[in-house]
Amino acid sequence: MLILGIETSCDETSAAVVKAENGRLQVLSNVVFSQIDIHKQYGGVIPEVAAREHVVKMVPVLDQALKQAGLNRDRARQKLDAIAVVNGPGLITSLMVGVETAKSLAFAWGVPLVAVNHIEAHIYAAFLANPDIKFPAVVLTVSGGHTQLVLMHGHGQYEALGETRDDAAGEAFDKAAKLMGLGYPGGPSVSKQAKEFKAKDRIIRLPRPMLESRDYDFSFSGLKTALLYAIKNDSAWQDKINEYCYEFQEAVIDVLVAKTLRAAKEKGARSLVLTGGVSANQGLRQKMSEQLRASGLAARLCQPDLEYTTDNAAMAAAAGYFRANKQKFTGWDQLKVDIDSKLMYNK
Ligand code: KG4
Ligand code: ZN
Repeated sequence: MLILGIETSCDETSAAVVKAENGRLQVLSNVVFSQIDIHKQYGGVIPEVAAREHVVKMVPVLDQALKQAGLNRDRARQKLDAIAVVNGPGLITSLMVGVETAKSLAFAWGVPLVAVNHIEAHIYAAFLANPDIKFPAVVLTVSGGHTQLVLMHGHGQYEALGETRDDAAGEAFDKAAKLMGLGYPGGPSVSKQAKEFKAKDRIIRLPRPMLESRDYDFSFSGLKTALLYAIKNDSAWQDKINEYCYEFQEAVIDVLVAKTLRAAKEKGARSLVLTGGVSANQGLRQKMSEQLRASGLAARLCQPDLEYTTDNAAMAAAAGYFRANKQKFTGWDQLKVDIDSKLMYNK
């Protein structure tokens, strides 16, 4: 099966071609145009600007993805088995560009469509590198828009365990970076500073919100406020910025790791999947892996390769394949931009 993926949910315009055979996925092309350079001057994504950039870049990105996969437009029409597009959640006007493009191509080429949930696409990014993920799998998706723990019983079968009650983990990194005058996106800039700090010298302490709560929910907005007050009350905070970044990052990681491992234990998970933009964080990857080993649990840690952690279309194509394989296509009348972040169980 050959699947074209399209992803425009936030500030990346992306198209990819993925070949699937017996559940094994091979990325033939994955072209991502990032708008970060445009948005960083504003300190965050401006939806109106993002949508206009998607309009400019969508067709060139698509052309390049087809070309890299050895397809021209005529061959694409003959060879593609499905077009998978992320239809939400995300920025509405950004999503619309990808969805309209997918619909137009499907109409022109007579190829079936699969609408893919953004979080589900992040989950399937992990299947690109780990085709043999065993179920049940506890999946932590951590991105700029979402922080969600789900129990995956099988392909397309999700049981929600918990999510953030306020800011997403990536959003917390972005806001913390802004408070400290660091660049957008905040995750990479905070972790770069944190790497400069030696853990054994740590004095500053920030809270670990909801670490002890018996549910699987998260909360990061209070942590950001704690950081705000800590630096407000510290006239020399700029000299200790590496330590503040380190401690902030550790606080986020500690809660994410503890809750995910508890879920894996309580639900008897055979795999533990860590995915989404924040899963690019080396500190998070390392602590998750170390503590999983220390816990003695039998679950295997499965993560996407770094290039598939942040938004990309290969993950959309991967998620689309598992639906297309079961002939679960999306009718014209069902293809709408969807802001619902809930992954539907047994959908
Ligand atoms: O998945 P993604 O590309 O977009 C959304 O779906 O939101 O994730 C982007 C988020 C941003 O908040 C960014 O700061 C965060 O992922 N991020 C990181 C790292 N790289 C990206 N957070 C922590 N550490 C990183 N290395
Ligand atoms: Zn995303």
